Amino acid sequence: MKILVLGGTAEARALAGKLAECKTFEVTLSLAGRTAKPRAQGVPTRIGGFGGADGLAAYLRKEQIDALIDATHPYADTISANAARAAAQTGAPLLALRRPAWEMKPGDQWIEVENINAAVAALGAAPRRVFLALGRNEVGAFTNAPQHAYLVRSVDPVDPPLAVPHAIYLTARGPFSEADDRALLERHRIDVVVAKNSGGAASYGKIAAARALHLPIVMLKRPASPDMEAAETVEEVLAWLDHAVTLAATRGV
Ligand SMILES: NC(=O)c1ccc[n+]([C@@H]2O[C@H](COP(=O)([O-])OP(=O)(O)OC[C@H]3O[C@@H](n4cnc5c(N)ncnc54)[C@H](OP(=O)(O)O)[C@@H]3O)[C@@H](O)[C@H]2O)c1
Repeated sequence: MKILVLGGTAEARALAGKLAECKTFEVTLSLAGRTAKPRAQGVPTRIGGFGGADGLAAYLRKEQIDALIDATHPYADTISANAARAAAQTGAPLLALRRPAWEMKPGDQWIEVENINAAVAALGAAPRRVFLALGRNEVGAFTNAPQHAYLVRSVDPVDPPLAVPHAIYLTARGPFSEADDRALLERHRIDVVVAKNSGGAASYGKIAAARALHLPIVMLKRPASPDMEAAETVEEVLAWLDHAVTLAATRGV
């Protein structure tokens, strides 16, 4: 079976690695090409957009892909919508691998907002010390609130830097522990965190650290995901694929 995994997440890498170990599957991992130096994936990888849903459908046909796994980040809503449309066009079986969202726990002070502009507004008029744990693409909106002092953490440098008087930049790739993130928040005297509800363990450190320090988090809500069958773990995806292989064998495909 030829499997295309739409990736850009730790789960996609883990899944593709598992599939590559198994002779039943021929896996290709697809990356958008956003990060300058992506982690070595250890499996055949293609990089760059497909050219919308139609481009992805054409790729699925040309490469004779038997199943498509959307293991992209929960906030990467365009590629997920394209995957749903391309699967519908081609008839390729599609499964999403989605990390469950984090749930609020006692002591958490989350201010949930719909979008990045609402996140900027939620910081208020008075100057604050803000930790932005967002992608490079989203931080630009905070130039509309130059009264705050920002600590910006991203995988690749924010270029150009924000047009605000007070901003410090850190480039780092997770996982981030609670202890390290707590030390970071304390060192920079942060009083509010802005984050996405990414789910998973790798970026939970700041959430736990904010709780321990009694800091509020402005939390961007997840975008609505297209209606598609979804699994929450790599193991569930493997079971779904095994079932698909059995079905194909039964049909004599
Ligand atoms: N958004 C986040 O917060 C976030 C966080 C961590 C990692 N990521 C990863 O970074 C990538 C880009 O995220 P995004 O939010 O910019 O995506 P997006 O807005 O949903 O996608 C924008 C375009 O990028 C291309 N693309 C996205 N993912 C792709 C993939 N895996 N393989 C090939 N092309 C892809 C597609 O171009 P075409 O239309 O030309 O095909 C898509 O239309 C995703 O793969 C995602 O898993 C995103």
